[in-house]
Amino acid sequence: MVKICCIGAGYVGGPTMAVIALKCPDVEVVVVDISEARIAGWNSDRLPIYEPGLDDVVKRCRGRNLFFSTDVERYVGEADVVFVSVNTPTKTRGLGAGKAADLTYWESAARMIADVSRSDKIVVEKSTVPVKTAEAIEKILAHNGRGVRYQILSNPKFLAEGTAVRDLFAPDRVLIGGRETPEGQAAVKVLKGVYARWVPEDRIITTNLWSAELSKLAANAFLAQRISSVNAISALCEATGADVAEVACSIGKDSRIGPRFLSASVGFGGSCFQKDILNLVYICECYGLPEVAEYWRQVIGINDYQKSRFVNRVVSSMFNTVAGKKVAVLGFAFKKDTGDTRETPAIDVCRGLLGDKAVVSIYDPQVTEEQVRRDLAMRKVAVTTDAYEAARDAHAVCILTEWEDFRSLDYRRMYDVMQKPAFVFDGRNIVDPEKLRDIGFIVYAIGKPLDQWLKDMPAVA
Ligand code: UDX
Ligand code: UDX
Ligand code: ADP
Repeated sequence: MVKICCIGAGYVGGPTMAVIALKCPDVEVVVVDISEARIAGWNSDRLPIYEPGLDDVVKRCRGRNLFFSTDVERYVGEADVVFVSVNTPTKTRGLGAGKAADLTYWESAARMIADVSRSDKIVVEKSTVPVKTAEAIEKILAHNGRGVRYQILSNPKFLAEGTAVRDLFAPDRVLIGGRETPEGQAAVKVLKGVYARWVPEDRIITTNLWSAELSKLAANAFLAQRISSVNAISALCEATGADVAEVACSIGKDSRIGPRFLSASVGFGGSCFQKDILNLVYICECYGLPEVAEYWRQVIGINDYQKSRFVNRVVSSMFNTVAGKKVAVLGFAFKKDTGDTRETPAIDVCRGLLGDKAVVSIYDPQVTEEQVRRDLAMRKVAVTTDAYEAARDAHAVCILTEWEDFRSLDYRRMYDVMQKPAFVFDGRNIVDPEKLRDIGFIVYAIGKPLDQWLKDMPAVA
């Protein structure tokens, strides 16, 4: 049976390997990471990432055929299949800064694989990488190979955070790209054999390497485009008196469009969408396709617009100033059921409010105070352990993450401890505006008909 090693014990590598280990009890799976803290976390009772259902999966196979270790070189050396799931942030300086993926971690992982390998290996790209990364990795491995043969596969992750375990148990599809040579196809077959233990064959798609790499970027760009499209319509709804939820429901009934991923919001976040679209934009530019680059760049443009539109709405409805006013922020994670804050719209919204000198008090059920402080670069904010504390003496409440708990908060209790007039700005459309208006709140909800108050205080763009 194959031995699997995964480099990178993050949001992707951890859950993916745990599920492979659970579904393939005879396959040894070792997840390695250079971060001692991360590995210690995976070996403890408090896993380093929060994902519904993950605790149970890890408990069932850790120590049996699932292991977490910092001994990167040893386990990479012993494996037949090496997944690479290291971080690929956007480059912050140099060529392609702000768009291109920073492949530093990837390259050093590849060089390390070449250093320690004594037997042939299948190297699987798991972290999202720009198209043609496999080619670069192949070159590094080939030039340092010392007789060891490598096959590179692209097996992009399609799991979404917050539903990672569910997505891994029953994926819409598993995509495996490989070289169209006999050796390449043999490698594809090995990996296919692993997934086929629990994924129906017709859901395992095999393609060439470049199709697999590009499909990943394209899928995320299409998903993000839907959100930016509905968010663009939300601005028009507010201007006309249409209700974006009604519009989304109507268009979603068209089976060519479908109902999912049409929730208007304060903006999309997460480690994938923006990064992958920027990657796509950069690739288009590199291939001399500026019109295509511009087309996709607009998806991000609308997302930035949506975030700043929200901040403008808050400020303009509160007499054009929030200076010295306490604003409670409910939700900091980029979506519910995760503690992840990468690219969360809450960062931009909080920065905007702080820029206008608001006193910001944040509550999120899964994000730590330390994380909030890191994300807001030490700016002065309070982080509370419950929503009512955040709202005490506040002029406004901004809902930025769609946590289920926020639907059932006692808004009357909150109203009673707030300054008046008391505002709710719902960036996720999870509260019932009419119920809150009955309590006395002035309510703004994305893409919903405006209160008379908000109509009288138009947001300036
Ligand atoms: C459209 C809507 O589909 C229909 O619901 C509405 O009532 C009227 O407008 P129509 O313009 O007749 O209908 O044709 P449609 O099938 O939507 O195609 C529009 C164009 O898109 C055509 O030129 C078609 O060739 C093109 N198309 C469609 C593509 O290029 N690719 C596709 O995948 C689908
Ligand atoms: C995404 C892709 O869905 C997944 O397939 C890929 O593997 C990784 O990137 P993820 O970033 O975990 O997953 O979360 P997702 O559920 O896609 O949400 C992304 C952002 O869009 C979140 O901020 C979410 O709140 C927002 N969103 C989503 C909306 O604003 N409206 C929607 O209708 C759906
Ligand atoms: P993702 O969301 O893609 O999983 P994360 O940042 O959560 O991204 O995880 C990536 C992990 O990869 C981090 O824990 C990091 O320490 C690890 N990592 C990066 N480079 C290497 C390397 N060369 N060897 C081992 N682990 C690495």
